[in-house]
Amino acid sequence: MTNILTLTMNPALDVFLEVPLVKPAGKLRCTKPVYIPGGGGINVSRAIRRLGGSSTALFPAGGSIGNHVAALLARESIATNMIPIAEETREDVNVLETESRLEYRFIVPGPKLGVDEWQRVLHAIRTASPRPDYLVASGSLPPGVPVDFYERLAALSLERGFRLIIDTSGEPLRHTGGKGTFLLKPNVGELMSARDDDAVSDPEVARAAQALVDAGRCEVAVVSAGAGGALVADRDGTRHIPAPVVAIGSRVGAGDSMVAAIVLGLVNGSSIDEAVMFGVAAGSAAVMTHRHELCRLDDTKRLLDEVRGLCSGAGCRVPETVTPLIEDVVPVFAEH
Ligand SMILES: Nc1ncnc2c1ncn2[C@@H]1O[C@H](COP(=O)(O)OP(=O)(O)OP(=O)(O)O)[C@@H](O)[C@H]1O
Ligand SMILES: [Mg+2]
Repeated sequence: MTNILTLTMNPALDVFLEVPLVKPAGKLRCTKPVYIPGGGGINVSRAIRRLGGSSTALFPAGGSIGNHVAALLARESIATNMIPIAEETREDVNVLETESRLEYRFIVPGPKLGVDEWQRVLHAIRTASPRPDYLVASGSLPPGVPVDFYERLAALSLERGFRLIIDTSGEPLRHTGGKGTFLLKPNVGELMSARDDDAVSDPEVARAAQALVDAGRCEVAVVSAGAGGALVADRDGTRHIPAPVVAIGSRVGAGDSMVAAIVLGLVNGSSIDEAVMFGVAAGSAAVMTHRHELCRLDDTKRLLDEVRGLCSGAGCRVPETVTPLIEDVVPVFAEH
């Protein structure tokens, strides 16, 4: 059986509340909280489960909140390897104002990790048995963890022979990639801001995606573009995988569902283009669901057929001229 290990360096307990109206002073009477285990890699593990696969979620966590995250994952039948840390795991709060349907997301910094703590995570990867076939590292890095942490995973991937998939942004993305990194999955904004480049035309984004591969920072770059689908670049060039049009529930979890489907596709022997089509379908399926719910398997399967249809013929060529791809994306980012 192929083995997938996900890594979340900055996990969170996500608390979801609803309140009729957010206003200052006075008490805001909320609904009963819903607790969801969160953080990039943890979400990828949860989406893999929903798509019928399995993985192990590796994460450093501490205190009663850390234990709560692990217990919630166990309830979803997700195997975990929790590395205990001294500080308490963070708790993020997500409030839906029901009168306006606006969502407020309060994200706090994660706990500070000591050197011995993040090194224990590296040790867990170095000694994981059986050896993972894929390591999916996703999300931000908490205080105390060196900004080149994901780069260190690339060295480990060469040592142990697993394929490394990274989904991160900001400084960690700038310091990521190089020999040993199999796949990078930034979205358009993350890719361009990591280049200090605010160009947004399709050919410019396509060139930036291809440049990641040509510079040897990864073997495959998948650049997601919201409603615009995704670009996939490798040594064979850059292709565009369009997304189906779907009714919007909530954008939360689109990227993580996409990464989950890509890795599942790959472990099941799909080509990279097929795996990214599956990823685009899962991302779009996640957008259809409400709030914290990730992609559903039946939606994903149905949308995969649609994506395949969109890709037949010339559908997957990267447009030579500026096309509506990016313009389509802007309102999506603005809307949600
Ligand atoms: N409005 C939309 N309509 C259809 N599909 C969408 C939409 N938004 C996202 N998707 C699907 O989800 C995939 C990933 O979305 P996106 O590019 O927004 O990822 P992301 O910015 O990394 O998301 P996240 O905020 O979850 O990290 C897209 O490639 C697409 O398949
Ligand atoms: Mg993302």
